[in-house]
Amino acid sequence: MATLEIKDLHVSVTTEEGEKKILKGVDLTVKTGEVHAIMGPNGSGKSTLAYSIAGHPKYNITGGSVTLDGVDILSMKVDERARAGLFLAMQYPVEVPGVSVANFLRTAKTAIDGEAPKLRTWVKDVNEALERVTLDKDFAQRSVNEGFSGGEKKRHEIAQLELLNPKFAVLDETDSGLDIDALRVVSDGVNRFSGQGDRGVLLITHYTRILRYIKPDYVHVFVAGRVADQGGPELADELEANGYDKYVKAAAEVTSA
Ligand SMILES: Nc1ncnc2c1ncn2[C@@H]1O[C@H](COP(=O)(O)OP(=O)(O)O)[C@@H](O)[C@H]1O
Ligand SMILES: [Mg+2]
Repeated sequence: MATLEIKDLHVSVTTEEGEKKILKGVDLTVKTGEVHAIMGPNGSGKSTLAYSIAGHPKYNITGGSVTLDGVDILSMKVDERARAGLFLAMQYPVEVPGVSVANFLRTAKTAIDGEAPKLRTWVKDVNEALERVTLDKDFAQRSVNEGFSGGEKKRHEIAQLELLNPKFAVLDETDSGLDIDALRVVSDGVNRFSGQGDRGVLLITHYTRILRYIKPDYVHVFVAGRVADQGGPELADELEANGYDKYVKAAAEVTSA
């Protein structure tokens, strides 16, 4: 079993008006074998949390820690974090013109494993991974994310997830912009990944709808840069019924006090 532990994490970004505090003391522990959903309104800092775990240079860590089995990951470079077993699917995946999906996946796999995958089995693995997310195998020759539809981007991320097979997956709004068929394909992929056992998932979303397909063990409500509440799957049902209103109000009272 492995443990990803976020403790009292404070993160800010540098803007033209100066430092802007975004995360204000996030505490969260994810163990392999668990699926955690982070739910919260727009602008609450969910993507900032994902980027901070992944090591995006724009986000300044001003306090707290993120460790994987007790090892500090915040001092690691982005590629070291991937080798340590972390995977991030971004809310807005970047385009990489001139780099094919096939090359990208092979390079990533080689970097993470420390050796190139065997060509014959690898091509088969890639084709199967694409097929599982209902992407045609010609898709492997396209430039990464260039001209991909919203659904293709997300399905490609799930193919990556399955091929790289990390210990922990942080999935930021993997459900946004998906129609019902794509949502099912993406959810099935996440469920296959977590169903292997000994894998941890941090699923970030602001809709409850994906949680009809992916059953979280824990739900965390994220508001104004911190975890405002947590519970089991029933908390997602409560959010679906009542929204984030009461949490947003409570957070506003704390801020104005
Ligand atoms: N690079 C950045 N520069 C300036 N402000 C940012 C940056 N990244 C995030 N923010 C601000 O931080 C807040 C949280 O953003 P984000 O983490 O994207 O929230 P969420 O993913 O929950 O919608 C927002 O007010 C957003 O405008
Ligand atoms: Mg976001």
